[in-house]
Amino acid sequence: MDLEKEINRRRTFAIISHPDAGKTTLTEKFLLYGGAINTAGSVKGKANSKYAVSDWMDIEKERGISVTSSVLQFEYDDYCINILDTPGHQDFSEDTYRTLMAADSAVMVIDASKGVEAQTIKLFKVCVMRHIPIFTFINKMDRDARDSFELLSDIESVLGIQTCPINWPIGSGKDFKGIYDRKAKTVRTFTQTAVGGAKEAKEVDYDVESDELKALAGDTLYEQLLEEIELLDEAGNEFDLNAVQNGNLSPVFFGSALNTFGVEIFLKYFLSMTTHPLARESDEGVIDPVTAPFSGFIFKIQANMNKAHRDRIAFMRICSGKFDADKDVYHVQSQRRLKLSQPQTIMAQERSIINEAYAGDVVGVFDPGIFSIGDTLTAPGNKFAYEGIPTFAPEHFSRLVSLNSMKRKQFIKGITQIAQEGAIQIFEDYNLGMSEIIVGVVGVLQFDVLKYRLENEYGCEIRLEPLPYQFIRWIGDPSTDPGKLRRMNNVKAVKDMKGNPLLLFVNDWMIRMVLEDNEGLELKEFRKN
Ligand code: G4P
Repeated sequence: MDLEKEINRRRTFAIISHPDAGKTTLTEKFLLYGGAINTAGSVKGKANSKYAVSDWMDIEKERGISVTSSVLQFEYDDYCINILDTPGHQDFSEDTYRTLMAADSAVMVIDASKGVEAQTIKLFKVCVMRHIPIFTFINKMDRDARDSFELLSDIESVLGIQTCPINWPIGSGKDFKGIYDRKAKTVRTFTQTAVGGAKEAKEVDYDVESDELKALAGDTLYEQLLEEIELLDEAGNEFDLNAVQNGNLSPVFFGSALNTFGVEIFLKYFLSMTTHPLARESDEGVIDPVTAPFSGFIFKIQANMNKAHRDRIAFMRICSGKFDADKDVYHVQSQRRLKLSQPQTIMAQERSIINEAYAGDVVGVFDPGIFSIGDTLTAPGNKFAYEGIPTFAPEHFSRLVSLNSMKRKQFIKGITQIAQEGAIQIFEDYNLGMSEIIVGVVGVLQFDVLKYRLENEYGCEIRLEPLPYQFIRWIGDPSTDPGKLRRMNNVKAVKDMKGNPLLLFVNDWMIRMVLEDNEGLELKEFRKN
């Protein structure tokens, strides 16, 4: 198959949701259709204490949450699909943000009984910032749901995006009869499957005018359906593929992932409405996925994924051309030519070595310790760099004390590696240097992860002493000496791992005071890697 065909059949998307809305179940059902797994429950089955293949740390099992993002690749209907699974727990949002940078579109799973939840809002904002298409799957229709129109207006008002239902439910909970396809004008009836919907559900379609459907739905629900269809046709947003692809209109689908209902319809429409990998901005202009030679960027780094392999894996999103494992690549940031050893597709802990991959794919490569999040890899001879991934400002800070002075080397190695992965940010006191280490995180759970990992992977015991700071600002001009700034009581000056000076503030008000009293001082909220 030629390069263009290979790239055009790729779809790379992230699934986002509030925890428990059904993201894992939906992902699993996609894999079922793609033939990548045979039975449901192999991705996750909390009930029989089999955990998601994406759960890789004991801490996840203890807490029943998914800490890391994994990448799943499967084939369906001539498409090659890459799903970027994102951790749903709010404390892991920074990793999730980065994963969204590698996706071309996003699927938002919403629990029909709950509507838009806090976590969805945060993640959604990143999608909006990137103008990527967002598809909504309203899940759990087999349970009592909120009114469908109410759910739509919730999405529109809370998230600020227009919606266009592609199908429409008939009833919900024990009265859930099926979904009406607005384009085909047919109704697919709902059958409850065995627990977990291990098999692909039997799905039957009826014409909306048919007597069988009237009998199945019953008079009340049937009348209600006709009224609602009329209302949608008259007052709803019209479908506009351009608006979908620009991220301004979200196509909405209803179903029940657990019962494997509405999942295949969703997948089919989704694949036809979303795009293959598109051109991306670099510092040398737009890079076309097909005509440009190989290039990609690192969006995630993870160490010690599996204790059996004590290594560091960098996740690379390929943005253009074909990646060939036998050929050298150029690492733009270190200006080094190198061969990426043992490139692999990673399905959680399952790894398989690959020889080639195409724009749209995500490949895990061994990191010899030179990669950072946001780095660009190109075919030798090309030196452009993709736009960096923003570093999100940590909101919680602690002083990090090593309890075992004999293990200083291991301790420094551990915190440096974990920081390079981007899970935490490390700072040193501006004057005292590494003898006072401060760690900053986006979500407090990362403190526990850090403690756990330092103990389990590096054999280092630590103590974390919480600090009152909540805001961090990079000093615009790195040659500024914080010691010479005015109004610095209660403000802490630190350096990041690259030696850049920063200030930590207890509240917003202090930031304004320091800015007012130090003319010409520039403070930045984000820093591009
Ligand atoms: P998440 O990844 O978004 O956190 O959600 P996950 O798929 O783990 O689903 C959360 C819970 O919701 C699970 O139940 C799952 O079985 C259930 N669920 C998912 N989709 C549907 C659906 O369409 N209908 C209904 N009724 N339930 C659904 P659990 O009790 O937490 O786990 P388990 O014991 O069922 O595995």
